[in-house]
Amino acid sequence: MPEDTNGLEEPCRKIMEPMQTTKNQMDAVGFDFGTTNSSVAFLNDASEVKLASFCSLGAQVESSRSVLYLEPFRTADGHRRTHAFTGPAAIERYLQAEEKGRLIQSLKSHLSSRSLTGTEVFGRRYKLEDLIARMLGDLRKHTATQSEKPIRYAMVGRPVRFVGADTPEDDDFAVVRLREAFAIAGFERVDFELEPIAAACAYESTLDHDELILIGDFGGGTSDFSLLRVGPGVLRRGRTPQDLLGNSGVGLAGDAFDARIIRKLVSPALGSDSEARSLNKLLPAVPAWIYANLERWHYLSFLRTNNAREILKSARIRALEPKKIEALIALIEEDLGYQLHQAVQQVKFELSRSDTAEFCFRDSSPVHPVIDLRIPVTRMEFEAWIADDLQAIENSIEQLLNTAGIHPRAVDRVFLTGGSSFVPAVRRIFETRFGKDRIRSGNEFTSVAHGLALRAAEALREIS
Ligand SMILES: Nc1ncnc2c1ncn2[C@@H]1O[C@H](COP(=O)(O)OP(=O)(O)OP(=O)(O)O)[C@@H](O)[C@H]1O
Ligand SMILES: [Mg+2]
Repeated sequence: MPEDTNGLEEPCRKIMEPMQTTKNQMDAVGFDFGTTNSSVAFLNDASEVKLASFCSLGAQVESSRSVLYLEPFRTADGHRRTHAFTGPAAIERYLQAEEKGRLIQSLKSHLSSRSLTGTEVFGRRYKLEDLIARMLGDLRKHTATQSEKPIRYAMVGRPVRFVGADTPEDDDFAVVRLREAFAIAGFERVDFELEPIAAACAYESTLDHDELILIGDFGGGTSDFSLLRVGPGVLRRGRTPQDLLGNSGVGLAGDAFDARIIRKLVSPALGSDSEARSLNKLLPAVPAWIYANLERWHYLSFLRTNNAREILKSARIRALEPKKIEALIALIEEDLGYQLHQAVQQVKFELSRSDTAEFCFRDSSPVHPVIDLRIPVTRMEFEAWIADDLQAIENSIEQLLNTAGIHPRAVDRVFLTGGSSFVPAVRRIFETRFGKDRIRSGNEFTSVAHGLALRAAEALREIS
């Protein structure tokens, strides 16, 4: 088992893993490696599902942010090495650091991309699988200390359609890479289950009768749907392939909504619609590709190059609204991508609760901030910005029902889960089609891991 992943070292004392107790004993977990949050569930000795808990900002939570923070350091003999922090520790370390290292998130979204094999950090190239493995390995060890058993086998969730996957081959490619990351992280055996089916298993465990259900799992990267028959009767007689009527999915969810907020709300305040005088013509002050990098906040650090700096310096001199360009420059130079992302999340969360919200974002200067944005926004505006995404989601559900030949009236219940299922416009798609009284929701951040643990136990029974 690797002590560290390709030079990404553990920053502090290594976690002591429990020793193997029984020969041939396989301890299984349900592992939901999410685009934004990851959860791991295991069965205790009484066969109850338990979720690994994590300490985040002083509170115990049942999911861990899928983030990696890389920080360079020098060994006593002068060699350059990289410390890797994961989950809540990554965020804490990033926020404390005077000299910022690289904070990386949404790595799952790159798994289907054949052109993205890895990234260069502090002069060394890392494979995507190694970066992901670093997070998986920490989660495995952390869970092992709580379940008090070594963990060698995982039932891992996968989306129906990975972000950026155009064909089933792209999805297969993503699964191969994810499997490789789990192997690097020290898992001896891994099986995959579709995330919405896992959520269905969690929902099924609450039922006292059989139902035909539609599951909608809306995460950070993907929206996934499954139509299936579940319940105690199905479990008693044994699941058959006919119980699964179909799956569908689209590679967009919460991250795509965040990108829309940046494009429609934040970028204009930082000059994306502003013009600059060039000879006697008016032209866009800053090229669009600079703003495209803002939409993926962790790409912001890629804008700290000489080329981008030259473009922005000249734009500030010629722009009709130089203050907006100054704010854009401050955002990039102060490396405030994470803080910007947090502010975007805040306004999005608020719009899930209220009809109106205020987007607030300022730099760290207490007296004369260069960035000081306070922009009111309504839920209606937000819904107009994400209209194309909502349409894509609706089309995916329509396609699932049509392919399965199921009329919406035949669906007994709709179970909505995943963090983006809190978005009222997402819920409305189902309320309009199925009626409010048929909708159930809950355990938004843990139902997939819970269901995966149940599937893992089923799979182990089949193996032995
Ligand atoms: N109250 C809320 N309103 C709107 N969006 C929310 C809310 N709470 C969380 N989210 C969004 O939910 C997403 C994270 O959900 P979740 O943890 O289910 O995703 P994930 O499992 O990591 O991603 P995926 O399943 O796509 O791999 C983020 O985009 C987050 O901004
Ligand atoms: Mg998820």
